[in-house]
Amino acid sequence: MLTRGETEFASISDGVGGPGSPTDIEPVLLRDGSSVVIRPLASGDEAASASWFSGLGVETRHARFLGSLDRLDRRMLSELAGVDHVDREAIAAIARDGTTVGIARYIRIKPRRAEVAVAVGDEWRGRGIARMLLERVTARARSAGIEQFIAICLASNHTVIRLLCRLGPTTIGPSDAGVVELRIDLTRARSDRFPPGSAGGGRHDERRSCDV
Ligand SMILES: CC(C)(COP(=O)(O)OP(=O)(O)OC[C@H]1O[C@@H](n2cnc3c(N)ncnc32)[C@H](O)[C@@H]1OP(=O)(O)O)[C@@H](O)C(=O)NCCC(=O)NCCS
Repeated sequence: MLTRGETEFASISDGVGGPGSPTDIEPVLLRDGSSVVIRPLASGDEAASASWFSGLGVETRHARFLGSLDRLDRRMLSELAGVDHVDREAIAAIARDGTTVGIARYIRIKPRRAEVAVAVGDEWRGRGIARMLLERVTARARSAGIEQFIAICLASNHTVIRLLCRLGPTTIGPSDAGVVELRIDLTRARSDRFPPGSAGGGRHDERRSCDV
């Protein structure tokens, strides 16, 4: 019997369409010739989050959750699956075998501000999945009236910092215990950068603009 992910992949490949609006479900060819389906996570789809988490190695989990995490308990699974497509959104990449190989999400924390995060399964890195998921989750955030993303990540995580800086003009706060906070302006194009050192306003603000 096919899993939900496999069924979805098969129906899309057949041009029949899967659950949800057809425009929400997008088959994508990756740079290495493999393919995934990108779609918003369905509300309550804990299985997708569990599948995604099982593909994350120890270091990836640490980078994503900023702590050691062996497993997702019921509460966390339910929280990750609690999307409403307005205040809480998650975009997933699903492999041909039904495995969830990447998820980018935002959670609104203020009327016009949301926290963003992304992780891609270790076996699926470097194929452009995070970039595609982040572009799509950003488009949805803008449509939902979000003007700024906040991201908390390891200061050493240059790959994700570079990816996030592409979403819009970005400032990076000072490193605190190896962790930095990025603020990404979604109202302006990335080329419209803050002059170095000017972002954040105050004279004592140690934020710097992102130049990657
Ligand atoms: C950061 C992360 C999401 C990137 O996922 P990904 O799908 O591999 O990213 P992409 O394939 O879209 O690649 C992004 C860029 O980084 C480069 N890149 C990715 N992996 C790389 C690697 N191992 N070595 C060198 N470059 C790499 C890509 O070439 C790409 O650059 P390009 O667009 O100029 O070609 C993934 O490494 C991850 O899940 N990390 C752990 C979780 C995490 O750090 N989350 C952040 C919390 S906010």
